[in-house]
Amino acid sequence: MRNIAILASGTGTNAENIIKYFSNKNTAKVSLVLSNKRQAQVLKRAEENNIRTVFFEHKEFYVTGKVLRYLMLYKIDFIVLAGFLWLVPENIIEQYAGRIINIHPALLPAYGGKGMYGEIVHKTVLTNKDKESGITIHYVNKFYDKGDIIFQTRVKVDPSDTPASLAEKVHSLEYLHYPKIIEDLVVKLPDFSFKGPDEA
Ligand code: GRF
Repeated sequence: MRNIAILASGTGTNAENIIKYFSNKNTAKVSLVLSNKRQAQVLKRAEENNIRTVFFEHKEFYVTGKVLRYLMLYKIDFIVLAGFLWLVPENIIEQYAGRIINIHPALLPAYGGKGMYGEIVHKTVLTNKDKESGITIHYVNKFYDKGDIIFQTRVKVDPSDTPASLAEKVHSLEYLHYPKIIEDLVVKLPDFSFKGPDEA
């Protein structure tokens, strides 16, 4: 049984969907939900599902190592970003090489990068009159939305679409695919081992 941690800053509908998907699996479980926003709805959703939550401040992520300590404490094998807006610090990327993924609500490399999230992405797709949009699941590296792509799937954009209706279509794809892709990846993982200073 692998332990998954979710990092999220917002509403957390994907996080809840992933929690529920794994609640009756013997492959993995969501063991920890961490957020940089104290009031984020994702924390309430996790608590309602009896998942341990952790709030962290900027320096606890980038300087003091609180987040990494929690990942170790809960023996986290795999990290899932689901609406998380900060770059992951290098020490965590190194410890969790090949074990951190993100979902982006568009077809990367289009509409990626700093500031491209949520409604802004869908508005831009509509302004550009694109015929299709979609989702991208990718590994996380030290740049925004630049890690290797694992999976993409598309959805038709209709002329009548609004940012809200497009977001809904994209969310449906996310709910359908993200948990399954996570499962495919975690079942193949070797045991996690903490890398000492020489290996990290
Ligand atoms: C999703 O659309 C995801 O692609 C993006 O952030 C959004 C999070 O939505 N990274 P929610 O908080 O899971 O509802």
